[in-house]
Amino acid sequence: MDVIVDLQYGDCGKGKVAHYLSHKNSYTHVLRYNGGCNAGHTIFHKGKKFITHHIPAGVFFGIKSVIGSGCVLDPDQFFREIQMLEEGGVRTKGKIFVATNTHVITKAHKGEDKKKGGKIGTTGRGNGPAYRDKYGRTGVRAEKVARLKPYLVDLYDEWYPHSDRTGEKGKTINILAEGAQGFGLDIDWGDYPFVTSSHCTAAGALLNGLPATAIRDVWGVAKIYETYVGSKKFQPDGEIFNRIGDLGEEFGSTTGRRRQTNWMNMQTLERAIRMNGVTHIVFNKVDVLRAAGAWAVIDKKKTVAFKGEGAMREFIVKRLNSFGIAKSHVFFSESKETI
Ligand code: IMP
Ligand code: MG
Repeated sequence: MDVIVDLQYGDCGKGKVAHYLSHKNSYTHVLRYNGGCNAGHTIFHKGKKFITHHIPAGVFFGIKSVIGSGCVLDPDQFFREIQMLEEGGVRTKGKIFVATNTHVITKAHKGEDKKKGGKIGTTGRGNGPAYRDKYGRTGVRAEKVARLKPYLVDLYDEWYPHSDRTGEKGKTINILAEGAQGFGLDIDWGDYPFVTSSHCTAAGALLNGLPATAIRDVWGVAKIYETYVGSKKFQPDGEIFNRIGDLGEEFGSTTGRRRQTNWMNMQTLERAIRMNGVTHIVFNKVDVLRAAGAWAVIDKKKTVAFKGEGAMREFIVKRLNSFGIAKSHVFFSESKETI
């Protein structure tokens, strides 16, 4: 299994990396491992823009796409998304699955989140209340919802095919695990309470019935600057940050809210690299800083400005090297479609 994990606050371009990897490697499954339809993954496929909230990127390549037990699922949104994909020319039949033990987001969850989520600045999609009920043991699992029946899979049977149950003994399983949100929003490691309610780390992928030894590569995804959407103050003063936000079209793909921006924080990044065991890293939106004509990071609480792109890249590569990440595993990306 390879894992894709967002190293900042979501919206770093995981969808693009998932799309790239599912095209490049031969996976048998793409697994969404955490979160609900608070996520918004923007994917450019064959020149067309798609925004998905639940369904992982594997579906664009006909790979089995699984919504795992670490997620919470809104059936209304799920069916809307299938329709949107079909209308966009993506075949979904027999490709999309939901784990029997995935918890469901109800209308009441959404109503409550819209009413009470303001303090944290949630997406209002019922995510927090659904996880609360899951852990409070009052929730509803997907297996109890009649219209989800055709999509259900038992993850044990799916990950460990054995002849007595599925007749597919010996089949090699190769999973791409696609995370949602990001390390800075993780329920345990984010800035509580300004967090989401799920486990956004690479470890979160394992919670979907997979052994610790399953992980091969961990693809960390970051942006060359940071963005955050929610109610705490994040963006420092200075016109440059609005300019970066404008040039980067930094508006939420789920709620349309303007994202606050800041320079990339090296210590946030280092913490995320260590705790997720990152082996490969993609920095997205390099073109945006180039258009803004400004190159800087925050390192040890100070803003460090660079003369140009080359100097900044060199600084980052050198720092990552000290964390055991080789230059050939560092990607600076400036395309919406690929890394
Ligand atoms: P919730 O996940 O809707 O409960 O929102 C909690 C916090 O996470 C808020 O600050 C949201 O803006 C943020 N958030 C949730 N999902 C995403 C995402 O996919 N991208 C970026 N921020 C998100
Ligand atoms: Mg997003």
